[in-house]
Amino acid sequence: MTTGEQAHDRAPELRVPPPRRSHCPGRVNLIGDHTDYNSGLAMPMAIDLGTDVVFEPDSSHLVVLRSDVEDDHAEVHVRIPLEHDVLSTIRPPWARYVAGIVAALRPRTGGWGQVTTTLPVGAGLSSSAALCVSVALALGFEGPTSRLAKVCQRGEEAATGVQGGIMDQLVTTSAVEGTALFVDFADLSAHPVGVPDDAEFVVIHSGQVRNLPATAYAARRAECDAASFHLGPLGHVGPEAILGIPDPTLRRRARHVVTECDRVRWFAQALVSGDLAEAGRLMTASHQSLASDFEVSTPVLDQLVEHLLGLPGVLGARLTGAGFGGCVVALTEPGALDLVEFTAGAWRVRASGAATVGPA
Ligand code: GLA
Repeated sequence: MTTGEQAHDRAPELRVPPPRRSHCPGRVNLIGDHTDYNSGLAMPMAIDLGTDVVFEPDSSHLVVLRSDVEDDHAEVHVRIPLEHDVLSTIRPPWARYVAGIVAALRPRTGGWGQVTTTLPVGAGLSSSAALCVSVALALGFEGPTSRLAKVCQRGEEAATGVQGGIMDQLVTTSAVEGTALFVDFADLSAHPVGVPDDAEFVVIHSGQVRNLPATAYAARRAECDAASFHLGPLGHVGPEAILGIPDPTLRRRARHVVTECDRVRWFAQALVSGDLAEAGRLMTASHQSLASDFEVSTPVLDQLVEHLLGLPGVLGARLTGAGFGGCVVALTEPGALDLVEFTAGAWRVRASGAATVGPA
């Protein structure tokens, strides 16, 4: 028997791939929130906090993962269907994300592994996207990053029942070290923009943990869909067009999206020209728009932003991500903030590269 015949005779499902280690960064969105599902613009940045998975495939049909931040392990059959009704009953709740990715990928074999993370969970730094992308890579995903982002978005949507945008998955899979990404969600193009050496980004936890499905995220998305019904995607319309939206609430939601896209453009220019005072001013204006027009801030987030803006060396501050709690991001002069003051957690974050996978 030749080597070729031997290889052919082996049952493919019994070939167990070698162990892998994956890493996926979290992200902080510097500016441009609630624009991704409106075909608008944003400037997220992958950060040096993230989630790792070490996974050893075996010939079983179960994916078993433990996590250093969860009491109970996740155990998922490799043929679990990609259906929210099924995934939403899985316990513990974090296992639903694992199940969403398993269902979206359908790996041929199971295995066991360990998840470790330096990201605060439920803080608006994409802990769920980092878990999903890291699990997908550890389970053996192969293909272009755009497909990885879409597979993970699909898995997370099935797990949570919330139709999210693709910003988190896109930035964590295609970030370039030392840069933030200027993303146009109309065509999913992403251009790295260098972060100046004298720009320091600090992420501060408000202490309010939030779980996206329990927020008004889906309601805001529905309002944007309603506002765009006659105008087309809000990320493409000009300020005059929204004056024609009769409902005042929908008009304010649309005004946030339209003005936020302008702020993203100007913010990118400010970073390129090194005008950090202007970049900070745009971040603060973004917070005000998210708070008053889009109504996704909270009194705690507003107070934290106001407190930060009163400190020397702080150039701008805003909530980051979906809102409803979670974190604030501040642009500061280097070393301006004393992080011990922020008892719920604070991190000086650096622009890091995209998710990776390799042998364990
Ligand atoms: C969450 C979603 C993203 C995006 C932000 C708001 O993080 O996952 O897709 O919509 O909220 O900008």
